[in-house]
Amino acid sequence: MSSPIDFDRYDRIRPIRWTGEALELLDQRKLPFVVEYRNCATSDDVAAAIHDLTVRGAPAIGIAAAWGVVLASHRIEAPDGAEAAHKLAPAMERLNAARPTAVNLAWALARMRRTLGESGPDWREVIEREARAIETEDLAANRAMGSLGAALMRVGSGVLTHCNTGSLATAGFGTALGVIRAGVAEGRIQRVFAGETRPWLQGARLTVWELQQDGIDATLIADSAASHLMKTGQVQWVVVGADRICANGDVANKIGTYQLAIAARHHGVKFMVVAPSSTVDMGTTSGDMIEIEERDPGELFGVGGSRTVAEGITAWNPVFDVTPHALIDAIVTERGVVETPDTEQMQAMFGA
Ligand code: MRU
Repeated sequence: MSSPIDFDRYDRIRPIRWTGEALELLDQRKLPFVVEYRNCATSDDVAAAIHDLTVRGAPAIGIAAAWGVVLASHRIEAPDGAEAAHKLAPAMERLNAARPTAVNLAWALARMRRTLGESGPDWREVIEREARAIETEDLAANRAMGSLGAALMRVGSGVLTHCNTGSLATAGFGTALGVIRAGVAEGRIQRVFAGETRPWLQGARLTVWELQQDGIDATLIADSAASHLMKTGQVQWVVVGADRICANGDVANKIGTYQLAIAARHHGVKFMVVAPSSTVDMGTTSGDMIEIEERDPGELFGVGGSRTVAEGITAWNPVFDVTPHALIDAIVTERGVVETPDTEQMQAMFGA
């Protein structure tokens, strides 16, 4: 069973490319039919790309924001890092405001701010190295989580995933999709199902395309088919990513995750959350305190640019929800696995 994962075979997509002068972002609004990078020359270009979902996925927006700080630094002069941090504060605030729910954005900006504050006249090189480190650490974390998560599964398992948590959403390999890549490579996972993830269709447009690049068969289902799928006995695990994991183990993730967790518990299907420690927010005690992003209701009025809903209809479009920790069987991070998470166990793994 356990053959080592060939990282060159799996995982060839890179959503974020730093050229030294600009940030190139794979435009995820156009996938899968147009594979095109958008050039960001300023930090405000990066903030706009985060807001309009050119780049998306919690770890990826943190990495993009870190490079956004480097871009902003090209437009200021400062004798040391502390002065630079002061001058860069407005640009960092605009980056931070681009999306509210995924903590990785604020985490990456706080890390860049801290690094700046500690650096001297060579602050430019120091923050470029830090942005690179945020990116490479994320890739390493994903690769480690892949094996940790896959190890929880029996040979021959079927899995259902939600949204896109792959290379497209991270520095590479993915979180939940990394576990699926590892599980397939190790022969533990035999069947992969992906929900469409209305309204933005991250599952239908991104996840099944990404898996197809790796030669991994995945079956697309309508989000509304999930409970029925579980009832058929074809899946033993639901495996999802996270945008914020609270101190008590509550998890914010793409809208629809919560109902999957409820359905999984009802059908005796296990529920796994996979995320790097940069997604853990021990400063937020429970999911009730998380700001849930609401996007333009217009995202619900059509598919692929064609209107499907009558004019004059009201819609509500929250794009994340919170899964209570009691519905989660395992949280997998690069630091280890927290089974049946609660405040005590989260504290033991991540400190106060
Ligand atoms: O709105 P998105 O596409 O940025 O939402 C992404 C998700 O909810 C992912 O599941 C989460 O960020 C984990 S990605 C590794």
